[in-house]
Amino acid sequence: MAEVYTEPFPMADGMAAGQGSAAHFSRESYGSHGRTGAGSASNAAALHATMPGSPILSVRNVEKMFGSRDSVTRALAGVSFDVASGEFVGIMGPSGSGKTTLLNCVSTIDTVTSGNIIVGGRDITGMSRRQLAKFRRDDLGFIFQDSNLLDTLTGFENISLALTIKGEPSRAISGKVNAMAARLGVDQVLQKYPYQMSGGQRQRIAAARAMVTDPKLILADEPTGALDSRSAAVMLEIMEMMNQQLGATIMMVTHDAFAASYTNRVLFIKDGAVFNELRRGDESRDAFFARIMEVVSFLGGEAGHVS
Ligand SMILES: Nc1ncnc2c1ncn2[C@@H]1O[C@H](COP(=O)(O)OP(=O)(O)OP(=O)(O)O)[C@@H](O)[C@H]1O
Ligand SMILES: [Mg+2]
Repeated sequence: MAEVYTEPFPMADGMAAGQGSAAHFSRESYGSHGRTGAGSASNAAALHATMPGSPILSVRNVEKMFGSRDSVTRALAGVSFDVASGEFVGIMGPSGSGKTTLLNCVSTIDTVTSGNIIVGGRDITGMSRRQLAKFRRDDLGFIFQDSNLLDTLTGFENISLALTIKGEPSRAISGKVNAMAARLGVDQVLQKYPYQMSGGQRQRIAAARAMVTDPKLILADEPTGALDSRSAAVMLEIMEMMNQQLGATIMMVTHDAFAASYTNRVLFIKDGAVFNELRRGDESRDAFFARIMEVVSFLGGEAGHVS
């Protein structure tokens, strides 16, 4: 498992050098991209030019307001960014900066006030409820803070449920479940119920459930938040393996600089907009961690945590 992150991420070429250092800590390094006007279009084009393939996710000028006329909270204030197929992106930012709101809008749990979210070439902000249900089922995978497994189902049943709901023929299901469980090292616990598994095993079953339908995008909300440090490291190595060996595209919200150091790129959100980004390039995880910590300190967080 320790070997899984030795392969450099292909899109880092040419983008890594200098891009992420704290010295480039300005909106110009990323934050104004895509916001308004003609300038943003050329920025977007420049960004696309460096990406292998078209983005799987495009978030365009997304605003989200909460509340009524008397008290309005602008949780998202014109967020724009792209995630390319095969990327593992971390979202960090101070408490209240809009991370969960952003994730909820991409996962269609919540709706945007304005702006567009395009997944696999389709704008999800204009979809009907029925289309959204299909989109969530077919195109998204979820990894939650606690594994969110159903207690009354075995590991096998928890993973296969996603395929059953999708209407896969039952003869194909068991092959897929067994293969994915083997990839994630939990084929021995498939007949156990969640309470009979360790925290790390539950998270791996949950990862298998997220992956087994081959979604376009996996959304992870603080996936290590409820784990001890050893289980958290195992979980992160699993996500890294899902990304590098299984080709999963992952967007992960995290408070934890250590967790973020496993990603290829970290977007920092502040006051509902992208404030800065760091690209890992081919540097070591330790070196990337150190750069993430610089930004975290800049944002005023205490050791290892932004909020
Ligand atoms: N349902 C809601 N109604 C009103 N305001 C909300 C609602 N949900 C979020 N907000 C506000 O929107 C802003 C962004 O909240 P959000 O939960 O996205 O922050 P976050 O970055 O996830 O923070 P944390 O790190 O603490 O989880 C906050 O000011 C919050 O109070
Ligand atoms: Mg949150």
